[in-house]
Amino acid sequence: MSKMEVKTSLLDNMIGVGDMVLLEPLAEESFLENLKKRFDHNEIYTYIGSVVISMNPYRSLPIYSPEKVEEYRNRNFYELSPHIFALADEAYRSLRDQDKDQCILITGESGAGKTEASKLVMSYVAAVCGKGAEVNQVKEQLLQSNPVLEAFGNAKTMRNDNSSRFGKYMDIEFDFKGDPLGGVISNYLLEKSRVVKQPRGERNFHIFYQLLSGAPDDMLKKLNLERDFSKYNYLSLDSATVNGVDDAANFRTVRNAMQIVGFMDDETQSVLEVVSAVLKLGNIEFKPESRVNGLDESRVKDKNELKEICELIGIEQAVLERAFSFRTVEAKQEKVSTTLNVAQAYYARDALAKNLYSRLFSWLVNRINESIKAQTKTRKKVMGVLDIYGFEIFEDNSFEQFIINYCNEKLQQIFIELTLREEQEEYIREGIEWTHIDYFNNAIICDLIENNTNGILAMLDEECLRPGTVSDETFLEKLNQICAGHEHFESRMSKNSKFLNDHTLPHNCFRIQHYAGKVLYRVEGFVDKNNDLLYRDLSQAMWKASHSLVKSLFPDGNPTKINLKRPPTAGFQFKASVATLMKNLLTKNPNYIRCIKPNDKKATHIFTDSLVCHQVRYLGLMENVRVRRAGYAFRQTYEPCLERYKMLCKQTWPHWRGPAREGVEVLLKDLQIPREEYSYGRSKIFIRNPRTLFHLEDQRKQRLQDLATLIQKIYRGWKCRTRFLLMKRSQVTVAAWYRRYAQQKKYQRIKSSAIVVQSYIRGWKSRKILRELKYQKRCTEAVTTIAAYWHGTQARRELKRLKEEARRKHAVAVIWAYWLGLKVRRDYRKFFRANAGKKIYEFTIQRIMQKYFLELKNKMPSMSPIDKTWPARPYLFLEATHTELRRIFHLWRCKKYRDQFTEQKKAIYDEKLEASEMFKDKKALYPSSVGQPFQGDYLEISKNPKYQKLSTLVEEKIILADIVNKINRANGKGAPRIFLLTKNSFLLADQKSGQIKSSVPLSDLTSASMSAQTDGFFAVRVKEGTPAAAKGDFLLSSDRLIEIVTKLYRTCLSSTKEKINIEISDEFLVQFKQDKVCVKFVQGSPKNGSVAACKRKNNRLLEVAVPSP
Ligand SMILES: Nc1ncnc2c1ncn2[C@@H]1O[C@H](COP(=O)(O)OP(=O)(O)OP(=O)(O)O)[C@@H](O)[C@H]1O
Ligand SMILES: [Mg+2]
Repeated sequence: MSKMEVKTSLLDNMIGVGDMVLLEPLAEESFLENLKKRFDHNEIYTYIGSVVISMNPYRSLPIYSPEKVEEYRNRNFYELSPHIFALADEAYRSLRDQDKDQCILITGESGAGKTEASKLVMSYVAAVCGKGAEVNQVKEQLLQSNPVLEAFGNAKTMRNDNSSRFGKYMDIEFDFKGDPLGGVISNYLLEKSRVVKQPRGERNFHIFYQLLSGAPDDMLKKLNLERDFSKYNYLSLDSATVNGVDDAANFRTVRNAMQIVGFMDDETQSVLEVVSAVLKLGNIEFKPESRVNGLDESRVKDKNELKEICELIGIEQAVLERAFSFRTVEAKQEKVSTTLNVAQAYYARDALAKNLYSRLFSWLVNRINESIKAQTKTRKKVMGVLDIYGFEIFEDNSFEQFIINYCNEKLQQIFIELTLREEQEEYIREGIEWTHIDYFNNAIICDLIENNTNGILAMLDEECLRPGTVSDETFLEKLNQICAGHEHFESRMSKNSKFLNDHTLPHNCFRIQHYAGKVLYRVEGFVDKNNDLLYRDLSQAMWKASHSLVKSLFPDGNPTKINLKRPPTAGFQFKASVATLMKNLLTKNPNYIRCIKPNDKKATHIFTDSLVCHQVRYLGLMENVRVRRAGYAFRQTYEPCLERYKMLCKQTWPHWRGPAREGVEVLLKDLQIPREEYSYGRSKIFIRNPRTLFHLEDQRKQRLQDLATLIQKIYRGWKCRTRFLLMKRSQVTVAAWYRRYAQQKKYQRIKSSAIVVQSYIRGWKSRKILRELKYQKRCTEAVTTIAAYWHGTQARRELKRLKEEARRKHAVAVIWAYWLGLKVRRDYRKFFRANAGKKIYEFTIQRIMQKYFLELKNKMPSMSPIDKTWPARPYLFLEATHTELRRIFHLWRCKKYRDQFTEQKKAIYDEKLEASEMFKDKKALYPSSVGQPFQGDYLEISKNPKYQKLSTLVEEKIILADIVNKINRANGKGAPRIFLLTKNSFLLADQKSGQIKSSVPLSDLTSASMSAQTDGFFAVRVKEGTPAAAKGDFLLSSDRLIEIVTKLYRTCLSSTKEKINIEISDEFLVQFKQDKVCVKFVQGSPKNGSVAACKRKNNRLLEVAVPSP
């Protein structure tokens, strides 16, 4: 079940009453009884409204676990049973959420559990506030400051094994989110007299014992210490060890805590050195030595100890020794040095030890503050925790007790003020009429002590500052005079005669009726302690120390800063710091923890009535309850009240829909509670008498039982019904499934039978139809066949008839023709001549020829010599004529065609004809040349400026000019050359420069050779013995081979009248200078591409690969 949904209340499972305000009847006995009852049941916390009373259980209870922290976290104050965590939670939440600074005031006598309570509050706040590395470090430092301060400031006393011997107020600072930022600790008046002397059964401050038992050997040796407590005068022996306290372990804890708080190792070492020095100071002893002037003078007995101290804190031995023997008094620029006697030397020694220790303690607090102070300057929320020494009444009470009790008196005063104020404010806030409350106001006692003119502290100061002889007795006398009339002051010697015979009041004492009881103070030491003087020689000696910590503890020893003004007295300082504290507390929202000690024996389970009664009285707890109850004993906001009691009224149960206040009104009216018993505040209901509340509680309890029965009844009914309904539903489901199954089965059976029957019927029907269809089909087929046969017969008969008819018609026609012929011949026989037949024949032939020519004339083909058409031959006997006519016609049209040619064109055709004669059907390259006209001068030598030089060199007319490749015999590669043919010679010139490379007269040429293939390679042979023959034949290649060779041939013929030999062969010899090389043409493989390639095979063979056609 979720925790938040459970609405609990303080009133649940109460042992006695959790809130004393509800106590009925309210009397001291019942109050104590309630406390006892709760204490016996381990309920150590009880409320008075918002004040927590805490009984010291003297044993650890399992009520501070992390689970408990969670339980109380974010719960309302009255929701759970009383606990210190509830108060801490309330304070923390109103600090965080309502931005109200808080202070937690923990009061109670020594050993009542204040320090423990303050630690519990701190640890609770640490557990519930924010988390994170930085925040955790701050928390840890704040928490770890406790063991350090406790080691140095706490001691075992008769009342408490861990009694705080200083007052402590710690401000914990938070940011706006409620995360801790840091803290500031203020300390009040350390009981330093304990350093040099402890009452019987008590111990010095813990740190001395911790150091001696816990420090490792080498450390002790360094500090010149011995482990044995008995070696040290300042350590009382009778209770050097405390039951259940492990000093050695605590020493480690303290050192660890110092490290966490931020002490450097050398700082810790310095602190321990000072502690050792204080301890060893107690071992210095003095002996008297008579001086010449008759005065006694003290001398240090054992200089060894002094030497060790001096080494420890770095002072020259002579300086310290002198400071213990002399005292310098300065008055009006005069210095007077007096010797100290033994008693004075001891006094000086103890004063030094006390001062050294108390200054060290203050330094520690400052050092811790430095570490834990908040790092930001932003506004902080503050929670102050005050753990101050409790009210003390000893057998022998001195100045310290007076001061401590004064402080407690002040705290009580603000407690009264603030509780009443809070109560009054709540009434005003809630709009309820304020009723006056009678209570004891201790302002009068505070006034007795702190009044500036005639208060006890003021008078003590006056006495201390007064010139002349001053003693504790003169101080008492003064008190007797001035305070005699005060109703809380009692003294044997006062003017108030009623104490003259009071033997409980010794002569050197005065008694004050504190709010917590009467305390008898012995005046001895008051003046001295108030003065708190340390001889200047000692402070100066300390200032000279090379030990930096010791030096810093005595700034007043600096001779350059001598202050002749007396330092403020201890009483004055304390009063001032208490005033500051009070002012500070008044600005904050107070939360009270009132600690009570159940017995004097530090024992568990013992509840000493008288002791508790005494504390209850002086803590004013009854008054507290009365104040709280004066108007209304119980108050609660409307919502939880309605929530708790709504079952008591029909209208509000189980739900009230309107505002809570109206719900409560309806509820109370319905319950017929008398109107004067309660009052409606703005947000709370106020109940005057606890009886009313208990009445409500009883009714609620009764009603809860009824409701429980009802719920049980309804639940049982609901359970049975649900079970029944479930069974019913299950049964219906099962039945449905079964029925479905059975029906399914039946259906399937019927279905298969139906199918069988159906199939039989269908079969039968089908067969019947099939039979009918077959019969019909047979009938149709028969009809068709019959019809076919019939039509066939008809048709054949008709055909026969038609044929017969046709035959007859033909026979008739033939017969008719024959008959006609016969008739004509018979009729015309007499007209025929003998040669008429021949004439008719000739005439007929003539007519036919006539018709043939006329037709031929009309069907004549075109005049193009390449037109191959010719009309068809009409009669076989004209075959020869027809062919001859065709030939004649073709020759005739060719002639006609030739007759159109000019001379020039004729020459071109001549040339082409010549080429055709030479190459047609001999060289495969020839057909491709037929369509190309022979241009001759392809390079236009005379017009092209590039060949200007060449053109001037060649005077004759250029017949052919083209680029050819001259084949190099060495590698078969071609080099481009200009090929020029003129009337008498042919030339080869460089293609680029136009320089003539060879010039051969045509008469020197014998032949030209080439292959029968598609390539353009050709050789031009030179006549042997001519000048050109020296260079050898030319192997050239050109795409225009046909034209070049034709032109060469014709030009040669026309100029020399001799034919050069044209040789077409796939293998021929070429004369290169001396050698004859064979040029062989082969069909090339496709890789050679489409161009013929020449390649040298060996010295005598050039192979030309010609691509296959
Ligand atoms: N809530 C608690 N649970 C268990 N033990 C407790 C509790 N409160 C106090 N004690 C015991 O009581 C002892 C005395 O308590 P504490 O030191 O807090 O007293 P004090 O009121 O601070 O006294 P003093 O005024 O002398 O400092 C503790 O050492 C511890 O043993
Ligand atoms: Mg304490």
